[in-house]
Amino acid sequence: MKIIGTGSALPKKVVTNDMISEFLDTSDAWIFPRTGIRSRHVISDEKLEDLGAEAAEKAIENSGLVKSDIDYFICSNVVSEYITPGLSCVISEKLGLTCPCIDVNCACPGFIYAMDIAENRYLAGKARNILIVCAEEPTRMSSWEDRSTCVLFGDGAGAAVFSEGNNLKGIRLNSNPAPDKIYQYRKLVDTPFIKKEEQDVPLQMKGRDVFKFAVTASNRDILALLEENNLTKNDVSYYMIHQANARIIDAIRDYLEEPESKFPTNISDHGNSSSASCPILLDECNRKGMFKSGDILVFSAFGAGLLSAAAIIEW
Ligand code: COA
Repeated sequence: MKIIGTGSALPKKVVTNDMISEFLDTSDAWIFPRTGIRSRHVISDEKLEDLGAEAAEKAIENSGLVKSDIDYFICSNVVSEYITPGLSCVISEKLGLTCPCIDVNCACPGFIYAMDIAENRYLAGKARNILIVCAEEPTRMSSWEDRSTCVLFGDGAGAAVFSEGNNLKGIRLNSNPAPDKIYQYRKLVDTPFIKKEEQDVPLQMKGRDVFKFAVTASNRDILALLEENNLTKNDVSYYMIHQANARIIDAIRDYLEEPESKFPTNISDHGNSSSASCPILLDECNRKGMFKSGDILVFSAFGAGLLSAAAIIEW
């Protein structure tokens, strides 16, 4: 497949580190050096499905297609206000799409997992123009009394339209199941038969373990994927790394021994927007005119699961 359009949408409320330090024992002096984050967009009166639909509309317009050309729609989402139907159905209704749609919940690498489904659907001859929307509101998952998690996240939606082409060069998916490293529980409806303890627990994370996994998995995925596709680091134009933490991105860059100019970032004013992070970054770079035909983009993302994934796309 080939990416023919990108879009993104962000909540209007911008929350700076200084604003958080007004109600929590933290500071810009702690957050910025450890994460690279200065501010993040946070949902206030927006609905996540509206942000997802806005990002999709922009991507479809950017692609030159019209909505009726889309014949498959994948939505990557970890949490929304809906338990059912899937967010893909809710966004489809807003867009007026009637093509098949599914949700994937693969946390931060969700954009690449969705790409893999899209490519397989395309290769099976079942779809030609596929919309992927990653819509996430992780600021509704952490406790805003927990300074070790809430400062890390931001909300938003990113979208891309994929169509016929031979530009998706390779994808690598990887799973290291360890649900205790990042998780959130929610209590379900009681029944007369429930005999077990359930509780609502906001997002919990073993930050240092996740940091190590992210750096190790990303380096391994990138190098293995380049080798599988007979490419070298010299062929790579840009590394589109999941924007979780500037120090994770720096560690990956140091390990690969690649120049900073190949690593576009937007972490400082977005924070970690889970699976929306890669397509938001992609859209921002695209709209700045950074990519030229033939550029090789290497995507790499990692997160809850623990899952990681990488993809090589020729622009
Ligand atoms: N402000 C001030 N102090 C904070 C703080 C904050 N926002 N968050 C944590 N601290 C404190 C802790 O309470 C702890 O204090 P203590 O030593 O008195 O107990 C101290 O800072 C060190 O905490 P620790 O969690 O060990 O910090 P760290 O150096 O591991 O940094 C992260 C924390 C989250 C920045 C770091 O682990 C990280 O970046 N992990 C990866 C997380 C990530 O990106 N996850 C998403 C991947 S998809």
